[in-house]
Formats: sequence, C-alpha cells, structure tokens
Amino acid sequence: MEQQSKQPITYRFPAGFWWGSATSATQIEGAANEGGKGKNIWDHWYEQEPHRFFHGVGPEVTSDFYHRYKEDIALMKEIGHNSFRFSISWSRLIPDGAGEVNPEAVRFYNAVIDELLANGIEPFVNVYHFDMPLAMQNMGGWENRQVVNAYARYASLCFRLFGDRVKKWFTHNEPIVPVEGGYLYDFHYPNVVDFRRAVQVAYHTMIAHAKAVAAFRKAAIPGGKIGIILNLTPSYPRSQHPADVKAAHIADLLFNRSFLDPAVKGEYPQDLIELLAEHGFLPVTEAGDRELIKENTIDLLGINYYQPRRVKAKEYMPNPDAPFLPERFFDYYAMPGRKMNPYRGWEIYEKGIYDILINIKENYGNIECFISENGMGVEGEERFRDENGMIHDDYRIEFIREHLKWVHRAIEEGANVKGYHLWTFMDNWSWTNAYKNRYGLVAVDLDNHLKRTIKKSGYWLKTVAENNGF
Ligand code: BG6
Repeated sequence: MEQQSKQPITYRFPAGFWWGSATSATQIEGAANEGGKGKNIWDHWYEQEPHRFFHGVGPEVTSDFYHRYKEDIALMKEIGHNSFRFSISWSRLIPDGAGEVNPEAVRFYNAVIDELLANGIEPFVNVYHFDMPLAMQNMGGWENRQVVNAYARYASLCFRLFGDRVKKWFTHNEPIVPVEGGYLYDFHYPNVVDFRRAVQVAYHTMIAHAKAVAAFRKAAIPGGKIGIILNLTPSYPRSQHPADVKAAHIADLLFNRSFLDPAVKGEYPQDLIELLAEHGFLPVTEAGDRELIKENTIDLLGINYYQPRRVKAKEYMPNPDAPFLPERFFDYYAMPGRKMNPYRGWEIYEKGIYDILINIKENYGNIECFISENGMGVEGEERFRDENGMIHDDYRIEFIREHLKWVHRAIEEGANVKGYHLWTFMDNWSWTNAYKNRYGLVAVDLDNHLKRTIKKSGYWLKTVAENNGF
C-alpha cells in the first residue's frame, strides 16, 4: 500500500472530500428481537412467507453490527473512511412507531455515534430505509396520514436526541423503491399491485419528507444539513425518434422527478401532474400541502446510482385488463453491446453518473450533492477468496475507479459534488435477496462466525481516501 500511495495522482478530488460507505439498519444490525426493538414489516413478512427470501434467510441473520459495531468502526478507520452512513431503525427507537421511546435504542445509537466520532468518522444518518414498523403498516403504512405524522414525530425525535453530534441528516433512502416494491411490482411488503395506491404512497412519503424537513428547521441544529437520498436512474431513449424520447421523458418523470423536483425545487413537474390527471390517478391531498412542499426544500442531495434505464416507445397496445403499471407508457430496451455486470445482471454504464451530476448542476441549481451509493453486487463472491482469506475483487476496483473518473470530470465542469460513498461497508442482508449479492468492502463469512476480512477493494479505497485521489 505504501508504494501505491507514492504514485502520481491523476484524479485528485477537492479538499475535504467525503470518502466512505453506506448501510441500513435492517441490513446490518441483526438483533431483530433484542434490545426492546419492535417488529417491522421485514420481520413480519419473513415470518409469514420465508420462501420469498433467498435461501430462506431472514432479517435476524445479518452482519450483527448491533453487537460488533466497535470492531466494524475500527475496520472503517483502517480502510480510510472519513464518513459513514447508517440508518436508525424506527421500530428500534419507537417499537410501535408512535408511542414510547426505547431507552436501549437511544443508548445503542449514542454509542455508535460516539464511537464513529472518536475514530474521526463523520456520521451521516438516514431516518428511514424501507423499514416501516409493523404497527404503522397495520394502520395502512404510507397510505395513512396518521403514519405520516408519526414519522414526522419520529424524525424530530432523532434530530433532538442525536443532533448535537450528527450534522448530516437524510429523511429517506430511495423513497421510490417501497412504492415500486410494495405497491407495483411485488417485491416488498405489503406486496400490493395497484397504481392508484402507489401514487398515494409516493405522495405521502413526500409529505412525510417535507414535514421532517420542517421539524429539522425547527430543531435548528448548528451546522446541520438535511437532505434526501434518491436513486436516480438516467432515462435514455432507444433513439431520437419523438416516440422514444417521450417514453424516456415519462420514465424520468415517474421514477426520478417524482421525488427530485419536489425535494429540490419545492414543486412537482407540471407534466407529471398532467400525466396523472389524464389517467385519473391524482393523489388525495390536503389544504396546505403545496406550501409545505414549497417551503421545505433540502440542503444536500444524496445520489444513489447503479444503472441507467433504457426505454423505447411501446410497440404493442397494452392489454386493457392487465394491471396499470408504469410500463403502460414505455417498454424496456436492452441496448445491443451494453456492458453488463455478469454477476448481478445489471447494466454498467459509468457515464450515467456524470449525466446525473451535470443534470443536477444545470437544472437543479447546482445544489450540494454527493454520491451516496454506487456499487457492484456479486453472487458467489466466495470463489475469489485466496488461501489467506482475502477476496480479490478486482472487478469492483475497476467499477469504482471508472465511476470515480466520471465523478471527477463532473466536478471539473463545476458540479457541486462533496463525496463518494460506496454501497456498502460490509457484505450484508439485502431484503428478499438476503445474502445473494455481495457488495461489501469487507467480506462477512457466514460459515465462520461472521468473520470480517477486508477485501482487496477495501485496501484500494483506503489509498484513494488517503491520497484524496488516484
Ligand atoms: C440499494 C438499496 O438500492 O440497493 C440497498 O439502498 C440495497 O438497500 C442495494 O441493498 C443492493 O440491492 P441488491 O438487491 O442488489 O442486494
């Protein structure tokens, strides 16, 4: 490693760049039934339908960060992190979502925050990462305005409990994903397929976000910033034919701008409102909502980027009896010659990250932003382990390096990018995919007491962080 750090730096990042990784509570904590935690939808769904989960592995078997956070934070330090994102589990902090605060949870999150700070790692804290408390879901989840208010209270409690030390806050991670998974495509609980309900859930998630931002402003945390983390999937049309371009525009409205515009600009795109109105899908709103969204825009945007969305105009009339889905408006398009991640089946298109950043620069006031997730999932990664236990993930190093080159270029062209966080710190449990795809900088050996071993990519990112470039 010594030697590498003496190599000349071609891609140097701005001083103070945030280097680190991201995680989420349900995916790393484990201890699902310990420490006074209430059940969330994942605990419940696993009890109901374990066969939905890869190899039948549920959320109680994760990397056990709950007990091993000190060891993990030491590893973060070892691989050069200066920042780290985790989420607070709503059902750990408030077991039924709306009632009493669980003192054991307060102790746990305080200990994590203090340990990070003692190791020179800035905590980035996300309030909600897909994990609705079961009691809240039983009231209708995001479909119910009372749940929106309970979330706002929960967020405000987080700011008050931890805001003396945590300065970077996020209201939601990838809010479109629970809409897609839970209400359109059947991969999250409550596995409903209903476009109208999906629109209502998306809208209420945005109202919840705006209320949390309002609570954050009230908390007036010195030096504090509030943001949202969005998975932006640049929409590329098959061709410049107007029908293909329109298909890509609609996909962009539905999957990106439905959260990006209200969060950053304080209003929904007019085209999106017209599209929903035309098909009779406008959500139920309340007086004052428009002002709430307008007045509560964010300070900091987290961008998760994995793959682009390539679409084309529909070639066949949709079956009118089929459920109404976004695919009414476009078809997916597998561009010939595109580069694929052979281990995960997702396209790798590094320039997409640059296109997103330039779009934010040009059309969203060049708001302060950072890459909050980017990463390469690999199935069967154990086969790359050497006799000393190290996983040689050269493909991941290349993936990160090529994306970073485009991030660097966007910065050179004036994009306001403050950092790069990889998904993820250590191999972890990923929703119904459980441990199928490994993304970590640190391997977790499920067959050997969850033993942690830094991967080759972890050492590589360490030199990048130490040199602030490569
Ligand atoms: C991101 C999510 O979209 O993708 C993470 O924020 C998730 O929670 C990650 O783990 C990887 O997903 P998967 O399905 O490839 O394991």
